Amino acid sequence: MSGNTLGTLFTVTTFGESHGPAIGCVVDGCPPGLALSEADIQPDLDRRKPGTSRHVTQRKEEDLVEILSGVYEGRTTGTPIALLIRNTDARSKDYAKIASSPRGGGRSSARLTAPAVAAGAIARKWLRERHGVEVRGYLSQLGPQRIAFKSWAHVDENPFFAPDEAVVAALESYMDQLRKSGESCGARLTVVASGVPPGWGEPLYGRLDADIAQAMMGINAVKGVEIGAGFQSVEQLGTQHSDEMTPQGFVSNNAGGILGGISTGQDVVVSIAIKPTSSIRLPRKTVDVAGEAATIETHGRHDPCVGIRATPIAEAFLALVLIDHALRHRAQNADVTEQTPRVPAQAPVGKGKAKTTPMFEDPDPAEA
Ligand SMILES: Cc1cc2nc3c(=O)[nH]c(=O)nc-3n(C[C@H](O)[C@H](O)[C@H](O)COP(=O)(O)O)c2cc1C
Repeated sequence: MSGNTLGTLFTVTTFGESHGPAIGCVVDGCPPGLALSEADIQPDLDRRKPGTSRHVTQRKEEDLVEILSGVYEGRTTGTPIALLIRNTDARSKDYAKIASSPRGGGRSSARLTAPAVAAGAIARKWLRERHGVEVRGYLSQLGPQRIAFKSWAHVDENPFFAPDEAVVAALESYMDQLRKSGESCGARLTVVASGVPPGWGEPLYGRLDADIAQAMMGINAVKGVEIGAGFQSVEQLGTQHSDEMTPQGFVSNNAGGILGGISTGQDVVVSIAIKPTSSIRLPRKTVDVAGEAATIETHGRHDPCVGIRATPIAEAFLALVLIDHALRHRAQNADVTEQTPRVPAQAPVGKGKAKTTPMFEDPDPAEA
């Protein structure tokens, strides 16, 4: 059983189990010279950790990260960076009645997203410093409640990562009711990477969007991934979906910053669908290990909506894919000079109506 490593040039291999002594990861391929200490990583882990509000699991884990290797005198050396997070509040007895999984989810537990978040913090720092790329996410829907984006400033000011403080009271009462009833609900998260230069990604098997989808589907409980307009593209007409370009910039971003598998220079916009938590205390029909009819109720400490804590996780996974592609792009194209002008990510509103030259495209008749 492998499948513990993400990435091609910037690789992250996680280890450990939810109810073992520790979890962690080895990050290999990080460029040398990046200033790095635990203080760069801990804030992201603190945003993900359990027990921070009444709306999430009450398991108490400090998730303190230790850097064991790969950093010398405060800078990465280019050698493997080992990160360790000790488990301090594991309770196997909560799982005692679930015979097939006596130590919680073990490897498949969402606790293993903590090392990925730690690795993601390294990726985010490098992307920010070297390319000015900013990766940020927010809760865009909780159960049936859609949340319109208001401001990034609101996101870290409430336990939901909601981008509009005005909806927080409604989210709180929805969650309180849900918890009382013993139910769980799903969520939608949106992650945006701004400042990604054009050119990252490959046209076929290393498509940037494909790698993002694979990474996002690697997050526990994710059931869907959309890039840009995503499934909404089904209802759009060609003239509604295609993103017009002007010398001043792109006029829209239905593509979500990726065309032909390669970044366009626009914001990379990714949404994920997270399913309702499986572990609920309401009885559900199941079968036992002998195949006999049984009912299951789960009484341990659980997240009634796992999406509430997943925003930092989604940000981390997007950052991990982006740094990997940044390094792959650098490996292949470091000595290639740009021939065509860059189209700015976004045209200023109201611009772009100047005189245009008609061009006729003859689509490749052999594309079959
Ligand atoms: C932050 C986070 C917390 C989670 N907490 C729980 C939980 O308390 N109970 C549960 O049944 N699933 C929880 N999950 C989801 C499970 O880990 C996931 O459903 C399980 O690994 C099976 O994978 P799948 O749903 O992708 O098929 C959580 C997921 C995330 C991202």
